[in-house]
Amino acid sequence: MFRKLNLAVAALSMLGMSAMLAACNEQKSKTEVKKDVAEVATPAPTPAPTKSVVVYYSQNGATKKLAGIFANARNAETVELKLVKPYPSTYDSTIAAVKVQRDSKQWPALENAKPELAKYDTVYLGYPIMFGSFAPPIYTFLDSNDLGGKVVVPFCTYGSGGRKASAAELKTLEPNANVTLAYGISNKRITAENGAEVAAKEVEGFFADLETGKTEEILLGGYSEQRPLTAEDSAVFAEATKDYAYLSLKPLSVATQIVAGTNYLFVCEMKAFGGPATQTNVKIFKPLPGRGAAELIVVEK
Ligand SMILES: Cc1cc2nc3c(=O)[nH]c(=O)nc-3n(C[C@H](O)[C@H](O)[C@H](O)COP(=O)(O)O)c2cc1C
Repeated sequence: MFRKLNLAVAALSMLGMSAMLAACNEQKSKTEVKKDVAEVATPAPTPAPTKSVVVYYSQNGATKKLAGIFANARNAETVELKLVKPYPSTYDSTIAAVKVQRDSKQWPALENAKPELAKYDTVYLGYPIMFGSFAPPIYTFLDSNDLGGKVVVPFCTYGSGGRKASAAELKTLEPNANVTLAYGISNKRITAENGAEVAAKEVEGFFADLETGKTEEILLGGYSEQRPLTAEDSAVFAEATKDYAYLSLKPLSVATQIVAGTNYLFVCEMKAFGGPATQTNVKIFKPLPGRGAAELIVVEK
Protein backbone atom coordinates (compact mmCIF):
# COMPACT_ATOMS: atom_id res chain seq x y z
CA MET A 1 0.00 0.00 0.00
CA PHE A 2 2.83 2.33 1.03
CA ARG A 3 4.72 1.33 -2.09
CA LYS A 4 1.66 1.97 -4.24
CA LEU A 5 1.26 5.36 -2.63
CA ASN A 6 4.90 6.17 -3.31
CA LEU A 7 4.56 5.04 -6.89
CA ALA A 8 1.46 7.17 -7.26
CA VAL A 9 3.23 10.19 -5.80
CA ALA A 10 6.22 9.60 -8.06
CA ALA A 11 3.96 9.16 -11.05
CA LEU A 12 2.11 12.35 -10.17
CA SER A 13 5.38 14.18 -9.76
CA MET A 14 6.58 12.93 -13.11
CA LEU A 15 3.30 13.86 -14.69
CA GLY A 16 3.79 17.28 -13.14
CA MET A 17 7.26 17.53 -14.62
CA SER A 18 6.12 16.31 -18.05
CA ALA A 19 3.24 18.73 -17.89
CA MET A 20 5.67 21.49 -17.03
CA LEU A 21 7.88 20.60 -19.97
CA ALA A 22 4.90 20.36 -22.27
CA ALA A 23 3.62 23.66 -20.90
CA CYS A 24 7.04 25.13 -21.50
CA ASN A 25 7.11 24.05 -25.15
CA GLU A 26 3.51 25.00 -25.71
CA GLN A 27 4.11 28.34 -24.03
CA LYS A 28 7.12 28.92 -26.24
CA SER A 29 5.17 28.38 -29.43
CA LYS A 30 2.22 30.39 -28.11
CA THR A 31 4.56 33.22 -27.19
CA GLU A 32 6.09 33.16 -30.65
CA VAL A 33 2.67 33.31 -32.27
CA LYS A 34 1.51 35.99 -29.86
CA LYS A 35 4.56 38.07 -30.62
CA ASP A 36 3.46 38.46 -34.24
CA VAL A 37 -0.09 39.21 -33.18
CA ALA A 38 1.11 41.65 -30.52
CA GLU A 39 2.81 43.74 -33.15
CA VAL A 40 -0.63 44.23 -34.59
CA ALA A 41 -2.81 44.65 -31.52
CA THR A 42 -3.02 42.76 -28.17
CA PRO A 43 -0.30 42.66 -25.49
CA ALA A 44 1.37 39.26 -24.94
CA PRO A 45 0.03 37.29 -21.94
CA THR A 46 2.26 36.81 -18.89
CA PRO A 47 4.13 33.55 -19.53
CA ALA A 48 3.48 30.66 -17.13
CA PRO A 49 6.40 29.96 -14.77
CA THR A 50 8.49 27.14 -16.22
CA LYS A 51 12.02 27.76 -15.01
CA SER A 52 14.06 25.96 -12.43
CA VAL A 53 16.60 27.18 -9.92
CA VAL A 54 19.32 25.57 -7.83
CA VAL A 55 19.27 26.94 -4.28
CA TYR A 56 22.02 25.68 -2.00
CA TYR A 57 24.10 26.25 1.09
CA SER A 58 27.70 25.05 1.31
CA GLN A 59 30.15 25.63 4.11
CA ASN A 60 33.30 24.15 2.58
CA GLY A 61 32.63 23.78 -1.12
CA ALA A 62 31.54 20.16 -1.63
CA THR A 63 27.85 21.03 -1.96
CA LYS A 64 28.77 24.05 -4.07
CA LYS A 65 30.54 21.70 -6.49
CA LEU A 66 27.47 19.46 -6.62
CA ALA A 67 25.19 22.48 -7.08
CA GLY A 68 27.24 23.45 -10.15
CA ILE A 69 26.72 19.95 -11.56
CA PHE A 70 22.95 20.18 -11.00
CA ALA A 71 22.83 23.64 -12.57
CA ASN A 72 24.73 22.41 -15.63
CA ALA A 73 22.61 19.29 -15.98
CA ARG A 74 19.39 21.30 -15.83
CA ASN A 75 20.54 24.57 -17.34
CA ALA A 76 19.24 26.20 -14.18
CA GLU A 77 20.14 29.43 -12.45
CA THR A 78 21.78 29.21 -9.01
CA VAL A 79 21.32 30.97 -5.69
CA GLU A 80 23.92 30.38 -3.00
CA LEU A 81 22.49 30.96 0.48
CA LYS A 82 24.97 33.06 2.50
CA LEU A 83 25.15 33.27 6.27
CA VAL A 84 25.26 36.74 7.78
CA LYS A 85 27.68 35.28 10.31
CA PRO A 86 29.57 32.37 8.71
CA TYR A 87 30.39 29.32 10.80
CA PRO A 88 33.84 29.23 12.40
CA SER A 89 36.60 27.79 10.25
CA THR A 90 37.39 24.72 12.34
CA TYR A 91 35.32 21.54 12.31
CA ASP A 92 34.99 21.27 16.09
CA SER A 93 33.80 24.84 16.56
CA THR A 94 31.31 24.46 13.68
CA ILE A 95 29.96 21.34 15.40
CA ALA A 96 29.55 23.36 18.60
CA ALA A 97 27.83 26.28 16.82
CA VAL A 98 25.45 23.99 14.91
CA LYS A 99 24.62 22.10 18.09
CA VAL A 100 23.60 25.34 19.82
CA GLN A 101 21.39 26.26 16.82
CA ARG A 102 19.77 22.83 16.68
CA ASP A 103 19.15 22.63 20.42
CA SER A 104 17.58 26.11 20.54
CA LYS A 105 16.01 25.96 17.04
CA GLN A 106 17.39 29.46 16.55
CA TRP A 107 18.22 29.23 12.88
CA PRO A 108 21.02 31.47 11.59
CA ALA A 109 20.29 34.66 9.65
CA LEU A 110 20.95 34.62 5.91
CA GLU A 111 22.01 37.55 3.76
CA ASN A 112 19.56 36.32 1.12
CA ALA A 113 16.87 34.35 2.97
CA LYS A 114 14.16 35.30 0.47
CA PRO A 115 15.44 34.95 -3.08
CA GLU A 116 12.94 35.69 -5.83
CA LEU A 117 11.32 32.28 -6.37
CA ALA A 118 7.93 33.13 -7.85
CA LYS A 119 9.13 32.61 -11.41
CA TYR A 120 10.46 29.11 -10.71
CA ASP A 121 8.35 26.01 -10.45
CA THR A 122 11.18 23.58 -9.70
CA VAL A 123 13.69 24.18 -6.92
CA TYR A 124 16.77 21.96 -6.67
CA LEU A 125 17.67 22.32 -3.00
CA GLY A 126 21.23 21.46 -1.98
CA TYR A 127 22.81 21.18 1.45
CA PRO A 128 25.50 19.45 3.50
CA ILE A 129 24.21 16.96 6.06
CA MET A 130 24.77 18.25 9.59
CA PHE A 131 23.64 16.19 12.56
CA GLY A 132 21.80 13.72 10.34
CA SER A 133 19.69 16.21 8.37
CA PHE A 134 20.09 19.42 6.39
CA ALA A 135 22.39 22.18 7.61
CA PRO A 136 20.70 24.90 9.73
CA PRO A 137 20.71 27.58 6.97
CA ILE A 138 18.17 25.41 5.13
CA TYR A 139 15.70 25.76 8.03
CA THR A 140 16.07 29.53 7.73
CA PHE A 141 15.39 29.29 3.99
CA LEU A 142 12.35 27.04 4.51
CA ASP A 143 10.96 29.34 7.22
CA SER A 144 11.33 32.35 4.94
CA ASN A 145 9.80 31.01 1.72
CA ASP A 146 6.67 29.32 0.53
CA LEU A 147 7.56 26.28 -1.57
CA GLY A 148 3.93 25.13 -1.77
CA GLY A 149 3.01 23.90 -5.25
CA LYS A 150 6.64 23.71 -6.38
CA VAL A 151 8.60 20.59 -7.28
CA VAL A 152 11.49 20.38 -4.80
CA VAL A 153 14.39 18.09 -5.68
CA PRO A 154 16.74 17.64 -2.70
CA PHE A 155 20.45 16.93 -3.10
CA CYS A 156 23.19 16.68 -0.51
CA THR A 157 26.76 15.87 0.37
CA TYR A 158 27.62 14.02 3.56
CA GLY A 159 30.39 12.28 5.49
CA SER A 160 28.60 8.95 5.71
CA GLY A 161 24.90 9.53 4.99
CA GLY A 162 21.68 11.40 5.67
CA ARG A 163 20.11 11.61 2.21
CA LYS A 164 16.90 9.73 3.05
CA ALA A 165 16.40 11.25 6.49
CA SER A 166 16.86 14.81 5.24
CA ALA A 167 14.43 14.27 2.33
CA ALA A 168 11.89 12.79 4.75
CA GLU A 169 12.22 15.85 7.02
CA LEU A 170 11.83 18.13 4.03
CA LYS A 171 8.59 16.36 3.10
CA THR A 172 7.30 16.87 6.64
CA LEU A 173 8.24 20.55 6.72
CA GLU A 174 6.92 21.27 3.20
CA PRO A 175 3.73 19.20 2.93
CA ASN A 176 2.43 21.35 0.07
CA ALA A 177 5.53 20.99 -2.08
CA ASN A 178 6.12 18.02 -4.32
CA VAL A 179 9.36 16.72 -2.76
CA THR A 180 10.97 14.12 -5.00
CA LEU A 181 13.54 11.42 -4.47
CA ALA A 182 16.82 12.92 -3.20
CA TYR A 183 20.36 12.57 -4.55
CA GLY A 184 23.35 12.32 -2.24
CA ILE A 185 27.09 11.74 -2.51
CA SER A 186 29.80 11.47 0.13
CA ASN A 187 32.25 14.30 0.63
CA LYS A 188 35.11 11.89 -0.01
CA ARG A 189 33.79 10.88 -3.42
CA ILE A 190 32.85 14.32 -4.72
CA THR A 191 36.05 15.97 -3.55
CA ALA A 192 38.23 13.22 -5.10
CA GLU A 193 40.22 14.14 -8.21
CA ASN A 194 37.62 12.64 -10.55
CA GLY A 195 34.74 13.68 -8.24
CA ALA A 196 33.07 16.11 -10.65
CA GLU A 197 33.03 13.47 -13.37
CA VAL A 198 31.73 10.73 -11.03
CA ALA A 199 29.01 13.00 -9.63
CA ALA A 200 27.94 14.28 -13.06
CA LYS A 201 27.45 10.71 -14.26
CA GLU A 202 25.46 9.77 -11.16
CA VAL A 203 23.36 12.93 -11.40
CA GLU A 204 22.50 12.00 -14.97
CA GLY A 205 21.37 8.57 -13.69
CA PHE A 206 19.45 10.26 -10.89
CA PHE A 207 17.47 12.37 -13.37
CA ALA A 208 16.74 9.23 -15.38
CA ASP A 209 15.45 7.62 -12.15
CA LEU A 210 13.26 10.66 -11.47
CA GLU A 211 11.84 10.60 -14.96
CA THR A 212 10.96 6.91 -14.78
CA GLY A 213 9.29 7.45 -11.40
CA LYS A 214 11.77 5.44 -9.30
CA THR A 215 11.14 5.32 -5.56
CA GLU A 216 13.34 4.37 -2.61
CA GLU A 217 11.98 0.81 -2.72
CA ILE A 218 12.69 0.39 -6.41
CA LEU A 219 16.21 1.74 -5.92
CA LEU A 220 16.87 -1.26 -3.67
CA GLY A 221 15.81 -3.69 -6.42
CA GLY A 222 18.20 -5.96 -8.27
CA TYR A 223 20.06 -7.27 -5.23
CA SER A 224 20.38 -10.93 -4.26
CA GLU A 225 18.80 -12.13 -1.00
CA GLN A 226 20.63 -11.17 2.20
CA ARG A 227 23.07 -13.95 3.18
CA PRO A 228 25.83 -14.56 5.75
CA LEU A 229 29.19 -12.93 5.01
CA THR A 230 32.05 -14.81 3.39
CA ALA A 231 35.69 -13.96 4.18
CA GLU A 232 35.80 -12.02 0.89
CA ASP A 233 32.73 -9.92 1.83
CA SER A 234 34.34 -9.15 5.21
CA ALA A 235 37.54 -8.01 3.49
CA VAL A 236 35.57 -5.70 1.16
CA PHE A 237 33.68 -4.29 4.15
CA ALA A 238 36.88 -3.69 6.13
CA GLU A 239 38.56 -1.96 3.18
CA ALA A 240 35.65 0.42 2.54
CA THR A 241 34.93 1.34 6.16
CA LYS A 242 38.45 1.83 7.50
CA ASP A 243 37.92 5.62 7.86
CA TYR A 244 34.56 5.27 9.61
CA ALA A 245 35.60 3.68 12.92
CA TYR A 246 33.48 6.27 14.80
CA LEU A 247 30.34 4.54 13.50
CA SER A 248 31.33 1.15 15.04
CA LEU A 249 29.76 -0.77 12.18
CA LYS A 250 29.37 -4.51 12.52
CA PRO A 251 28.15 -6.25 9.34
CA LEU A 252 25.44 -8.85 10.00
CA SER A 253 24.54 -10.01 6.47
CA VAL A 254 25.04 -8.94 2.87
CA ALA A 255 23.38 -8.86 -0.54
CA THR A 256 25.14 -8.15 -3.80
CA GLN A 257 24.32 -6.79 -7.22
CA ILE A 258 26.65 -7.29 -10.15
CA VAL A 259 27.18 -4.15 -12.20
CA ALA A 260 30.50 -3.07 -13.76
CA GLY A 261 32.01 -4.21 -10.46
CA THR A 262 29.88 -5.22 -7.48
CA ASN A 263 27.44 -3.29 -5.33
CA TYR A 264 27.20 -4.56 -1.75
CA LEU A 265 24.32 -3.91 0.59
CA PHE A 266 25.44 -4.80 4.10
CA VAL A 267 22.92 -4.90 6.93
CA CYS A 268 24.90 -3.69 9.93
CA GLU A 269 24.65 -2.97 13.58
CA MET A 270 25.85 0.60 14.21
CA LYS A 271 26.84 2.36 17.44
CA ALA A 272 27.63 5.82 16.12
CA PHE A 273 29.93 7.73 18.49
CA GLY A 274 29.43 4.97 21.06
CA GLY A 275 25.66 5.61 21.16
CA PRO A 276 22.93 2.95 21.31
CA ALA A 277 22.99 0.10 18.80
CA THR A 278 20.78 0.59 15.74
CA GLN A 279 20.47 -1.38 12.52
CA THR A 280 21.39 0.27 9.24
CA ASN A 281 22.15 -0.52 5.60
CA VAL A 282 25.62 0.25 4.30
CA LYS A 283 26.21 0.44 0.55
CA ILE A 284 29.68 -0.26 -0.77
CA PHE A 285 30.97 -0.40 -4.33
CA LYS A 286 33.86 -2.64 -5.34
CA PRO A 287 35.17 -1.85 -8.82
CA LEU A 288 36.31 -4.59 -11.18
CA PRO A 289 39.71 -6.13 -10.25
CA GLY A 290 42.60 -3.73 -10.76
CA ARG A 291 40.32 -0.66 -10.95
CA GLY A 292 40.65 0.59 -7.39
CA ALA A 293 39.63 -0.10 -3.80
CA ALA A 294 36.16 -0.80 -2.40
CA GLU A 295 34.49 2.47 -1.39
CA LEU A 296 31.71 3.35 0.98
CA ILE A 297 28.80 4.89 -0.91
CA VAL A 298 26.42 5.56 1.95
CA VAL A 299 25.34 4.58 5.41
CA GLU A 300 21.57 4.77 5.04
CA LYS A 301 20.21 6.82 7.92
C1 LIG B 1 28.71 20.58 11.91
C2 LIG B 1 28.80 19.41 10.99
C3 LIG B 1 27.98 18.31 11.17
C4 LIG B 1 28.02 17.23 10.29
N1 LIG B 1 27.17 16.18 10.49
C5 LIG B 1 27.19 15.13 9.63
C6 LIG B 1 26.31 14.03 9.82
O1 LIG B 1 25.49 14.00 10.73
N2 LIG B 1 26.38 12.99 8.95
C7 LIG B 1 27.26 12.98 7.91
O2 LIG B 1 27.27 12.02 7.15
N3 LIG B 1 28.10 14.03 7.69
C8 LIG B 1 28.09 15.10 8.52
N4 LIG B 1 28.94 16.17 8.32
C9 LIG B 1 29.83 16.15 7.13
C10 LIG B 1 29.32 17.06 6.02
O3 LIG B 1 27.98 16.74 5.68
C11 LIG B 1 30.17 16.94 4.75
O4 LIG B 1 31.50 17.19 5.06
C12 LIG B 1 29.70 17.85 3.63
O5 LIG B 1 30.19 17.36 2.40
C13 LIG B 1 30.13 19.30 3.79
O6 LIG B 1 29.64 20.04 2.68
P1 LIG B 1 30.21 21.48 2.27
O7 LIG B 1 31.65 21.28 1.83
O8 LIG B 1 29.34 21.90 1.15
O9 LIG B 1 30.12 22.37 3.45
C14 LIG B 1 28.93 17.24 9.20
C15 LIG B 1 29.78 18.34 9.04
C16 LIG B 1 29.73 19.41 9.92
C17 LIG B 1 30.65 20.58 9.71
